Amino acid sequence: MSRIRSGLIGWASGAVLALTLGMPGIAAAGIANTKHNLTSAGPGVNKTTGTDQICVFCHTPHGSNLAVSAPLWNKALPASSYKTYNSTGDGGGSGVATTATNSIDGQILAVGSVSLACLSCHDGSQAMDNMVNAPGSGSTAIGTGGWSGANQATGAIKAGLFSNLGVDLNNDHPIGIQYCGGGVTGGATTSAAADATVSCNDADFVTTVKNAKINGQQVFWVERDGTATKRGKEDIILYTRDFTSALATPSVECGSCHDPHVETKGTDNVNFMRVTTSGSQICLACHVK
Ligand code: HEC
Ligand code: HEC
Ligand code: HEC
Ligand code: HEC
Repeated sequence: MSRIRSGLIGWASGAVLALTLGMPGIAAAGIANTKHNLTSAGPGVNKTTGTDQICVFCHTPHGSNLAVSAPLWNKALPASSYKTYNSTGDGGGSGVATTATNSIDGQILAVGSVSLACLSCHDGSQAMDNMVNAPGSGSTAIGTGGWSGANQATGAIKAGLFSNLGVDLNNDHPIGIQYCGGGVTGGATTSAAADATVSCNDADFVTTVKNAKINGQQVFWVERDGTATKRGKEDIILYTRDFTSALATPSVECGSCHDPHVETKGTDNVNFMRVTTSGSQICLACHVK
């Protein structure tokens, strides 16, 4: 579900931004108050004087990168190759003689573009201003430069920060992973029936997985926002990916747990959670533990 604002936080609306930031009593101003505001007005350490546009680091209204299944994407994909959670033993020192992850049940796919969109900054391999359509009329020049904070030299997120996930994703929660340990049944993947529930064979997973077609596209989500018939911003999106079994297509990706626009909510001390980390609600939204 897209959220349309009445205000003009968007393409270079510095005045609105300054107004909202200057008035702490006013309700949340969304992405402008987060570390994903990479302009000099942002609250984080990674920022640039190269532009005052917030969205342009990720989206462009025209000429977006169609190789990425994130909307109107304005970045090149990283050329990195990744290790996945399939190989947790790779770190060594565990005493286990295999590089395999013994406990995993579901299939893990190669990292897909829906998560590569995030990794195009978060694997630390390329400049955060490596854009397809740079800010400004007729501007095809790549990059804005002018970085300050942790990353002056390259414009990439600095190594050593937790936010730089690197290319060894074996030490991160699995992504490109089938939901339910792979064992889903009952998904009406060929019907247009809204709100059909997918069942998990594996009782270790929350079973309120919904499944519908929106504009002909198959979508899945874990119900969270109390409106079961609609997929909302606080529902956990399970992305549709091509696993081998016809029904086993809901996949956990970066965007399942994170919404890259939202501020801290509840007692979270981290931005961009779709569901609060308070009481580990985000984990318990999927895992029955
Ligand atoms: C740090 C990267 C980043 C920035 C900055 C960013 N977005 Fe996004 N945006 C994304 C990603 C990734 C998605 C896809 C999320 C998903 O899979 O649901 C997205 C999705 C969207 C969507 C469609 C789905 C939704 O969640 O509503 C809209 C609309 C949108 N962005 C608008 C904006 C606007 C307007 C701005 C600037 C004020 C902005 N975004 C800034 C990364 C970003
Ligand atoms: C244009 C570059 C860029 C893209 C694309 C991007 N991020 Fe970020 N993100 C950043 C930067 C910079 C930070 C702040 C890093 C720091 O200070 O350690 C950050 C911080 C975060 C944080 C930590 C927030 C906090 O409060 O500490 C999360 C979570 C996050 N990003 C998730 C995502 C996800 C998920 C996506 C894809 C949907 C994404 N990001 C895409 C640049 C990006
Ligand atoms: C299963 C849920 C889940 C998935 C999937 C997930 N994250 Fe996170 N992520 C979290 C939680 C929870 C936190 C907060 C951790 C904390 O409080 O330190 C977090 C924190 C982060 C941070 C901040 C790290 C720090 O400690 O400063 C970044 C950056 C981030 N995630 C990016 C990503 C990216 C990029 C992906 C996909 C490659 C991803 N996440 C996938 C749940 C998830
Ligand atoms: C969007 C749903 C979702 C969320 C939210 C989620 N997980 Fe997961 N998690 C999964 C799936 C699916 C797997 C893969 C399980 C399998 O196939 O064996 C997994 C795997 C794991 C594993 C590895 C299990 C193994 O067998 O090796 C751990 C540990 C884990 N999650 C912990 C967490 C924690 C901690 C959180 C909260 C920070 C969390 N998860 C949030 C869906 C989720």
